[in-house]
Amino acid sequence: MKSYIGIDLGTSGVKLILVDENGKILNSVTKSYPISYPHDGWSEQNPEDWYKATLEGLSELTKDTSKLEIEALSFGGQMHGLVLLDKNDNVIRPAILWNDGRTGAETDYLNNIIGKDALSSNTANIAFAGFTLPKILWVKNNEIDNFNKIEKIMLPKDYLAYMLSGVFATDLSDASGMLLLDVKNRKWSEEMIKIAGITRDMLPSLYESYEKIGTLKPEIASKLGFGQLSIIIGAGDNAAASVGTGAVNHGDCNISLGTSGTVFVSQDSFFVDESNALHSFCHSNGKYHLMGCILSAASCNKWWVEDILGTSDFRYEEDECEQYMGENNVMFLPYLMGERSPHNDVNARGAFIGMRPDTTRKQMTLAVLEGVSFALRDCVEIAKSGGVVIEKTKLCGGGAKSALWRKIMANVLGIPVIRPETEEGPAYGGAILAMVGTGRFESVNKACGSLIKDRDVTYPDKDLTHKYEKKYQLWKKLYPALKDIYKQF
Ligand code: XUL
Repeated sequence: MKSYIGIDLGTSGVKLILVDENGKILNSVTKSYPISYPHDGWSEQNPEDWYKATLEGLSELTKDTSKLEIEALSFGGQMHGLVLLDKNDNVIRPAILWNDGRTGAETDYLNNIIGKDALSSNTANIAFAGFTLPKILWVKNNEIDNFNKIEKIMLPKDYLAYMLSGVFATDLSDASGMLLLDVKNRKWSEEMIKIAGITRDMLPSLYESYEKIGTLKPEIASKLGFGQLSIIIGAGDNAAASVGTGAVNHGDCNISLGTSGTVFVSQDSFFVDESNALHSFCHSNGKYHLMGCILSAASCNKWWVEDILGTSDFRYEEDECEQYMGENNVMFLPYLMGERSPHNDVNARGAFIGMRPDTTRKQMTLAVLEGVSFALRDCVEIAKSGGVVIEKTKLCGGGAKSALWRKIMANVLGIPVIRPETEEGPAYGGAILAMVGTGRFESVNKACGSLIKDRDVTYPDKDLTHKYEKKYQLWKKLYPALKDIYKQF
């Protein structure tokens, strides 16, 4: 039986899964790598670490399998990261990641001098600090020697695809987050290339996410013992996750509780919300999607439990929290790395408020999960105000494993939350794209229709939804009250 590999190039590590042609996960391996925060609000990783971890992962993943049956591999990758290669294909500087906030000045320049209208008409989006173009401008403004060495500009998963296949390529869903793509017409924007001060040949060739770009380099194939393995370009992690959870039909919603948190809504046709608060991007199924992204989601819980409480027993910390649901007077703002949607504010930071002498550790843990859920509700509210109806959602990412968090989400949003059988959203989506790219299925939507099953549904409770509604209305007032103070930090 044929098998396929899905690679999720995440922020905390790379996850690789091996899937058979019926969608059954045969094996799974995760390899982590470091992230560095060289200055407040900066975040970087070394692309060579991604590649090394991926090669190790591939060999471990397939050690007990018949390698010649592996047909193809594909990716879901952390989006927006800037990877720069010189004329010898060496990495010029560490990759500047999606949650890096150093580009405040460049983002202001783009939105206010070039202007939001021009950006929106060229790309369907405005500038957010984490997008790739502001980072290119930052390198130009701050590291001119590095800027002058640029030969190739690529996104994180495209670096892996390039190293594995030798083909300089990207896909339309991931390219959408660069602010260089004419999203509506699915091609690079010549106007934006001029604004970036780069040339067209520095950018990769564009493919749909399910298209084959080449095969595994023979020297890597023989080292790993693989046959002729096809490489399908794959998608940005959120577009891949929506494939992995089967949220690919018009209006379907997928929420991811990973390092970032995203609200992703599939659209059959091109759509831009009036305020440009939601990203309007190409989808991995050949269509479009809308997305809101918060920069710190499950990463807030990881920070709170591991770094502050000093434990890795997440389940223990969540035990007994439920008794405070709807009654918790502690509130938390999850802006550890600044915030993208909806505030677009690189200065915002985390905050706890409302503690009393009798406040418990459990209430603070609950407040963290609630604060992240409220921030995602902000994204859902923008979608609603743009006329998008969300009646239910899929949930994936590490946070989806927590029954407590699923219950909070269902009640904060007031809609059923569906957990698919497979929680490996982007990696599973990558494997499905690999299947579509090699002809196992005719289309992404058909593949999802036949492979994705749901595991369980968490329904909102009327009383709890009402209580959370009141708390959200109060929570919403915190950011505007703190906004000016954040500027002075
Ligand atoms: C989406 C975004 C994040 C990263 C995380 O716009 O920036 O979800 O893709 O990997």
